[in-house]
Amino acid sequence: MRLVNIDHVAIAVHDLDAALTDYERLYHVVPEYREVVEEQGVEEAMLPVGASNVQLLQPLGPDTPVGRFLAEHGEGLHHIAFAVPSIDEALRHLAHEGAELIDRRPRIGGGGHLIAFVHPRALAGTLIELVELQ
Ligand code: CO
Repeated sequence: MRLVNIDHVAIAVHDLDAALTDYERLYHVVPEYREVVEEQGVEEAMLPVGASNVQLLQPLGPDTPVGRFLAEHGEGLHHIAFAVPSIDEALRHLAHEGAELIDRRPRIGGGGHLIAFVHPRALAGTLIELVELQ
């Protein structure tokens, strides 16, 4: 297991347009891309910050994972994404260590990258996303 970088820190928001306006006004950062990821029930925007990114997530509806997160916790930190050289290798290691995996196999996430999620119960209440960078 080797973590290359924090690929992004993801924040759940009610209103993506409003959040983007605030990020630009307060921190002068603008999104590199913005897209709807139907499989995850979100519209997301990726804001480059140095070698990493802030990812803003707006749910497509209340009955989605991020919609339920917002109802329970309100806006704020949703997950941290670690870049890894190989998701398969990382998942094998985590399974071997007994970590509770949400995805046993990688799937395609935002930006077309291979991703997998690890349950917050595996690590101090923090949802972790693994991102494989080519
Ligand atoms: Co993410």
